[in-house]
Amino acid sequence: MTAPIVPILPETVALAVEVLAEGGLVAIPTETVYGLAADAANPDAVVSLYEAKGRPRFNPLIAHVSGIEMAMREAVFSPLAARLAGKFWPGPLTLVLPALIGGTVCDLARSGLQTIGLRCPAHPAARILIGEFGRPLVAPSANRSGHVSPTRAEHVAVDLADRINLILDGGPCEVGIESTILAVEGDTATLLRAGAVPSDELEAFIGQPLARASGASITAPGMLKSHYAPKARLRLNIDAPDDGEGYLGFGPASRGGLNLSPSGDLAEAATKLFAMLRALDERFDRIAVAPIPMTGLGEAINDRLARAAHRD
Ligand code: TXA
Ligand code: MG
Repeated sequence: MTAPIVPILPETVALAVEVLAEGGLVAIPTETVYGLAADAANPDAVVSLYEAKGRPRFNPLIAHVSGIEMAMREAVFSPLAARLAGKFWPGPLTLVLPALIGGTVCDLARSGLQTIGLRCPAHPAARILIGEFGRPLVAPSANRSGHVSPTRAEHVAVDLADRINLILDGGPCEVGIESTILAVEGDTATLLRAGAVPSDELEAFIGQPLARASGASITAPGMLKSHYAPKARLRLNIDAPDDGEGYLGFGPASRGGLNLSPSGDLAEAATKLFAMLRALDERFDRIAVAPIPMTGLGEAINDRLARAAHRD
């Protein structure tokens, strides 16, 4: 089977709903990266999703919801969690909350944890699809486990076309980097993954610094040192490449190779990061990357680059 890539139309969304209801796998656009969606309530569908990605089953999936009402059927929202959802949903913030007994998301999707990751994507097609489906869809990034995340339908096809049923093509993802993941317990918020909502924005909203997860406390391969990895070797914080090395530049001073943002705009850089890494990976065995500031979205960009560069 090779999954067809189809544009988003009422009839292709209806087809996607049908495929998902039968336990199939559908790649969908979100504002961050493409997700590989399956019925969160169907353990067989979730098993085939783990298999298609080659993802270890101890790595839980994010359940995607169409709004707060759907989310409240799955998790216990503390006042802080409700405030965060009210402010940042729909949008690229995932909340890890205590799972509600009697929720529809199956144990396997949560890797048996007593918590659940919930996200309400801002992409209109994703929300319409989840709304029409009527219950949460799990959707990890639609790449083979450990590989660079997909920001275009073609990236999904390269990694997964022979393993899934359908690819909905919504064009390039607007944000380009995954959601920020926050675990919220009572009035404490802990940053599990830097992402598309910068942590300083979250801290300003909450009114206090975020707690940071210590490596040992969380089992989540998105947090593993090596992840988002191209085949090429990466060197980071490099002002000029060596001979024969691909170059991923940033800002007006960078010359040659590809440039994440000639004007030095971090939002533009986030949008282009994964597509440019994939493009350089096709042509080079070694890639040097320019220094990227740590402010705002720079935290998430540097996080992904560090994992892409890491070799165990
Ligand atoms: O932007 C995104 O979040 C994208 C789009 C498709 O929505 N999804 C995404 O999913 O990045 P994935 O599976 O590639 O990364 C989800 C991360 C994993 O590192 C997983 O371990 C963590 O979320 N996660 C999910 N549920 C969790 C839980 N209950 N506790 C701790 N970590 C959790
Ligand atoms: Mg991923």
